[in-house]
Amino acid sequence: MTATLRVFPTAGELAAAAADEVVHRLRDAVVARGRASLVLAGGSTPMSLYQLLAARADDPTVPWSAVDWFWGDERTVPPEHPESNFGAAWSVWLSKLPIAPERLHRIEGELPAEEAAARYEREIRRALSLGPAELPRFDLVLLGLGTDGHTASLFPGSPALSERQRLVAAPWVAKLGSHRLTLTYPALNSARAVHFLVAGAEKAEVLAQVMRGPFQPDLLPAQGVRPERGELHWWLDEEAAGTLDRTPTL
Ligand code: 6PG
Repeated sequence: MTATLRVFPTAGELAAAAADEVVHRLRDAVVARGRASLVLAGGSTPMSLYQLLAARADDPTVPWSAVDWFWGDERTVPPEHPESNFGAAWSVWLSKLPIAPERLHRIEGELPAEEAAARYEREIRRALSLGPAELPRFDLVLLGLGTDGHTASLFPGSPALSERQRLVAAPWVAKLGSHRLTLTYPALNSARAVHFLVAGAEKAEVLAQVMRGPFQPDLLPAQGVRPERGELHWWLDEEAAGTLDRTPTL
C-alpha cells in the first residue's frame, strides 16, 4: 500500500483538485481496462466535488459512459428521500451525465436492510463479473470521515468491522436508531485507490487521532481502510488538517 497526505488551503481548492483527480483516474481506468468503477461517498463533504463534476457533463474527453457507479454506503431510505446518498449524487450530478441507467448500481435503501445488502452484493459481483469469492478491484473509492471516526457506514464498535467475507453489511447503528448499508473492509481494501476527502475544523480532532493516534480501528473505523494492493490518499483542507504534522507516516 502506498499512502499520501495532501492539504489544500480551502475546501473549494480541495474539491477542485479532487474533481481533476476523479477525471484523471476514470480516464486511466478506461484506457487500461475499457471501463472504470467509481464508488461515491455520501454525506455533505463531496457535494461540492459532485457539483464541479456536473459542470463537466458535456466534456467529451471524460469517458462518463464507460463508468460503473457504486456507493460506499446508503441510508435505509428510498432514493427520493432527502437523506439518500444516491439521491444527493443523482440530483446534483449524475442526472446530468450521458450515462445508461444500468451503469448506476444503487443500494436499494427502500428494501429491508439485509435484503438490500444481499442484493447490492449480488449486483457488485454481477456488474464486475466477479467469481463467488473474488474481491472487487474498484478503480476509485471516495470516502468521508465522521467526527466519531466512522467512514462509509462503518461505525465505532459495529459488528460490520469484523466482517471478512461479505462485501456489504447492514449493521444496526444505535446512535442513529436505524440500520445502515455499507461496503465492508474486504470491499474497500481491495480497491486500486481510496481517497478520503475531509474538510472543516470540526474534523481536525478526529483526523489527528486517526492519522497520528494509536491504531484502534474498532474505535476509529477509518483507520481500518488500508488497501493492501492499492493507494490510500488523504486529501484535507487546512481547517481539517489543523495542527497535524504534515509528514505522511501512514
Ligand atoms: C454518509 C457517509 C458518511 C460520511 C461522513 C462524513 O452516508 O453519511 O457515507 O460516512 O462520509 O459521515 O460526512 P460529512 O461529509 O457530511 O461530514
